[in-house]
Amino acid sequence: MKRTTPVIPAEDIQRQKEYCAQLRALNSRLPSPPLAYVDTYGCQQNEADSELLRGMLCEMGYEIADTDRGADVIVINTCAIREHAEQRVFGNVGALVHGKRKNPNQVICLCGCMAQEPHVANRLRQSYRHVDLVFGPQQLWRFPELLRRVALRRGRVFETERDDGAIAEGLPVRRSGKLKAWVSIMYGCNNFCSYCIVPYTRGRERSREPDIILREIEGLAAQGYKDITLLGQNVNSYGKDLEGGWDFPRLLEAANAVPGEFLLRFMTSHPKDATDRLFDVMARCEKVAPAIHLPFQSGNDRVLGAMNRRYTRGQYLEKVAALRGRIPDVVLTSDVIVGFPGETTPEFEDTLSLIEEVRFDALFTFIYSPRKGTPAAELPDPQPRGEKSANFDRLVEAQNRISLEKHRAYIGSVRRCLIDGAGEDPRSSLTARTAGGRLVHLDGDPALIGRFADVRITDCSTWALFGELV
Ligand code: SAH
Ligand code: SF4
Ligand code: F3S
Repeated sequence: MKRTTPVIPAEDIQRQKEYCAQLRALNSRLPSPPLAYVDTYGCQQNEADSELLRGMLCEMGYEIADTDRGADVIVINTCAIREHAEQRVFGNVGALVHGKRKNPNQVICLCGCMAQEPHVANRLRQSYRHVDLVFGPQQLWRFPELLRRVALRRGRVFETERDDGAIAEGLPVRRSGKLKAWVSIMYGCNNFCSYCIVPYTRGRERSREPDIILREIEGLAAQGYKDITLLGQNVNSYGKDLEGGWDFPRLLEAANAVPGEFLLRFMTSHPKDATDRLFDVMARCEKVAPAIHLPFQSGNDRVLGAMNRRYTRGQYLEKVAALRGRIPDVVLTSDVIVGFPGETTPEFEDTLSLIEEVRFDALFTFIYSPRKGTPAAELPDPQPRGEKSANFDRLVEAQNRISLEKHRAYIGSVRRCLIDGAGEDPRSSLTARTAGGRLVHLDGDPALIGRFADVRITDCSTWALFGELV
């Protein structure tokens, strides 16, 4: 298939596999397999990347550990989306210095979005000298080569140049779950929302080939995966760099045709590119979950403009109406930013009124965090922190009330749910998800885990539903 995005040649991927084999040979001489720990921050894209890192580490002869204590290799897969996420990483990476003193042969790696920020790379270079290897998300496929370079003790390795990225296929993967799986369909982002660091850390939008994606889904269905999420920063841009007329609705419909009993979800949709065609496909494809995460960020047109979101409040509401016209009980979730530079409290109140109007099932609320290198970080930001927090609290309170009201409406109904795990409370030994993705606690036989079952909803809280098997 012809495309405009560069694809890493198969020989280059093969070379990485050879590096894996070399390290495996070295590791096999040790009295017991060395341990590797991968710690993940940030979004599902990072979770998916960590599954590739673990896959490569297994190929290199490491055993995957679930703690950094005693690990021979530690990989911190980082997120740069907000200041708070970065502070946590710096704190945790700083604390690793003690373990490294005890075990100087330990290799500490930092990858993910923070590695792609020049000021972070500099700080790591100068003040975190126990970190051996730093590489950005676009270099992930070269992890075996980079780790080998460090393991053969050629000093510290930094691969942190700005990189638009390519498509790398055929990497080994070690999935964390047996029922739920991530499938990246595209990487990068071209939207440049003015507050957001992602387009700078993840490079340009690029799509995987549909055949490869569909084969991956077929494989997952055959292995018994029941809940498959297609991932991309903006899945609605899928296929723009491919020939053959592929776009996201067509891919979703093709994925729906893969045989098996499973649900399909996707993350994330940018409202400006969410079309009636997408909603039509969602409505007619039985495997596509009746759920969509459609971040609106702000309910005020001036703020939306300053955010470079390229839709208005009115257009957002029209999309929601078009969606609900086709799927009346669709589960709708969203992201919102409070305290964008220059936002006033009356402008914030437009956000509040939007959530009252739409009544989302759940909302992810964030206080604006300036990111170095983004246009919004240069804007005057006069609103006091206290006023932002007060607005944030009003929003959370309103949404909690709405979430509870929406959950109450489930009581008495019977929902087909995927029983997906063991519960923590002895009175509810199982957890499940509705097709729309709401959490349900219930009691039952652990042998049901992995099955779809009808559940009668009997009670609820703001965060979850409670039910019993029918
Ligand atoms: N690609 C996804 C979002 C990824 S980031 C999308 O466009 O929907 C997830 C959420 O983090 C965003 O939707 C936004 O609400 C929030 N976010 C991003 N940058 C932020 C910043 N600088 N400060 C606060 N929240 C931010
Ligand atoms: Fe960030 Fe906007 Fe891209 Fe989402 S669409 S990743 S918010 S720039
Ligand atoms: Fe964070 Fe990078 Fe994802 S900044 S949210 S890990 S794309």
